[in-house]
Amino acid sequence: MSSTSLHEPADQLTARTIDVHRAVVSLIEELEAVDWYNQRAEACKDEQLKAVLKHNRDEEIEHASRRLNGYAATSRSSTKL
Ligand SMILES: [Fe+2]
Repeated sequence: MSSTSLHEPADQLTARTIDVHRAVVSLIEELEAVDWYNQRAEACKDEQLKAVLKHNRDEEIEHASRRLNGYAATSRSSTKL
């Protein structure tokens, strides 16, 4: 696995738990994108570019929402310990 953010050895985790981890990392990346676009839009002096950046930010919010819903579904089905 290429992720370096697992907190336990990968060989001690199920494939399902590693998939949940992938979903969490994807959600984090979407939220970071929201933050980046929001900052760029706020700092941008060109009104046309600012509108594009705000649009991109709003799309990233939708992506994050979808990832969160996917995460919730994935984690619910993997919490049988
Ligand atoms: Fe995205």
